[in-house]
Amino acid sequence: MSKLPPVLQKLGLPVIGSPLFIISNPKLVIEQCKAGVVGSMPALNARPAEQLEDWLAEITETLAAWDKANPDRPSAPFAINQIVHKSNDRLDHDMQVCAKYKVPIVITSLGAREDVNQAVHSWGGVVLHDIINNKFAHKAVEKGADGLIAVATGAGGHAGVKSPFALIQEIRQWFDGPLALSGSIASGGAILAAQAMGADFAYIGSAFIATHEARAQEAYKQAIVDCNSDDIVYSNLFTGVHGNYLAPSIRAAGLDPENLPESDPSKMNFGGDAKKAWKDIWGCGQGIGAISEITSTAELVQRFKREYAQARERLSVSV
Ligand SMILES: Cc1cc2nc3c(=O)[nH]c(=O)nc-3n(C[C@H](O)[C@H](O)[C@H](O)COP(=O)(O)O)c2cc1C
Repeated sequence: MSKLPPVLQKLGLPVIGSPLFIISNPKLVIEQCKAGVVGSMPALNARPAEQLEDWLAEITETLAAWDKANPDRPSAPFAINQIVHKSNDRLDHDMQVCAKYKVPIVITSLGAREDVNQAVHSWGGVVLHDIINNKFAHKAVEKGADGLIAVATGAGGHAGVKSPFALIQEIRQWFDGPLALSGSIASGGAILAAQAMGADFAYIGSAFIATHEARAQEAYKQAIVDCNSDDIVYSNLFTGVHGNYLAPSIRAAGLDPENLPESDPSKMNFGGDAKKAWKDIWGCGQGIGAISEITSTAELVQRFKREYAQARERLSVSV
């Protein structure tokens, strides 16, 4: 296990609720943090841009009040996700708002940027950068990221193709900083497995879509409950970057999930058009076979905690 910055040391469970385009919102983030796991959301989910300030005020004030009332169960820190790709024309504005609220953790995606990392450090924040291979992991750390999120095969949204074992083993050869593992984690046993492999945190997205607080249509939440890994399709058609999606949503859009054309990577876009694509085509990882009901966020984290304790117990008995 690596040396962690103080902000990441006292979680109720070693879990980061990952940012979910369109879906994450202050309600979900607040419930994740109150339950003891890092809650996060993409800055771009606040639309128009001015809404980001209201959302950060709501999150920080609600969590401060919670901490005051529950000194024995303080909330976990929250994170804001910044898409640092050049198509994000809100980055400067959104970073200024994050600076004003001294956001404790910033998760950067789609390109590592030294200036963004320095800005976060200037207010005492921590940067976690997501990567899909060891080469990008090196680049991110060279540019000043404090920690890494290894996005393995089977992750929801933009996903890599590497086995989680390969990724974590390679990264742990040279990196002893904070490391989260992303991809198909949806049970307490899998959280413990991520730690056993050498990660510090499990990074969990799709499981949180099937919660009352997630901002997703009921049909999407129900599809997470009803589907399993056979229903997940890996394609670059929708954003120009490969990702995992639910086949039923692709069929509903009039496309054949088994015969999708390749997209042109030069058309990569994470602005307004991306919002249109992600509204109808539902991003999802392969781990949803472990989700059997729509629950509150608090109940989901409670289940993870129970299973995590059971898995630890099982291991301690069997060795
Ligand atoms: C619907 C959806 C939207 C996502 N949006 C984002 C995003 O805006 N920014 C980001 O960094 N990652 C995004 N991700 C990826 C997640 O942060 C994370 O890597 C992934 O959900 C983990 O795999 P899992 O879904 O199998 O748990 C998204 C994933 C999903 C399923």
